[in-house]
Amino acid sequence: MNILIAYATYSGGTQAASEFLNQTLTGLGHTVTVKMISEVTFEDTLTYDLRVFASPSWDNDGLEGQPHMDFVTFMNNSSDKKFSGKPVAVFGLGDSSYGHFCGAVDIIEEFVKKAEGKLVTESLKIDGYLFNMDANNQLLTDWANKLKV
Ligand SMILES: Cc1cc2nc3c(=O)[nH]c(=O)nc-3n(C[C@H](O)[C@H](O)[C@H](O)COP(=O)(O)O)c2cc1C
Repeated sequence: MNILIAYATYSGGTQAASEFLNQTLTGLGHTVTVKMISEVTFEDTLTYDLRVFASPSWDNDGLEGQPHMDFVTFMNNSSDKKFSGKPVAVFGLGDSSYGHFCGAVDIIEEFVKKAEGKLVTESLKIDGYLFNMDANNQLLTDWANKLKV
């Protein structure tokens, strides 16, 4: 499969997790492109067999559990666009000490559903990625094996 991983990051964790997922999916025989979500348009994402969206959760305007601002911009710019049944997967980094753990994942999922994307597997919510990388990379590896369209 030709797979796009489109991510955003504030402190590097989601970039590291996206690169790990890239290595894992490449090892499984896929062709993977990793880009920042700020570098792609909605139309760009349609040219792949599968698109994976990855965002940390953060505070925006005093609201917890929000996507990275670049995802907010992407979703706002794409509000009238459709994936038309194309496969999508979502993962996010967060910290369960916050009230709305990985809220960005839920918000991006809603966007995907509204845009008629097909979620190929349950979204992955990763707790404290950089503090427990081995276990979290194992979660990413298990999840990568479920990414079938
Ligand atoms: C100011 C701030 C707000 C955060 N808000 C949340 C949140 O609402 N929910 C959550 O699950 N994690 C929250 N986190 C944790 C981050 O999502 C987590 O550290 C993540 O790994 C950061 O990913 P990044 O390195 O790709 O930016 C917050 C972290 C910071 C510093």
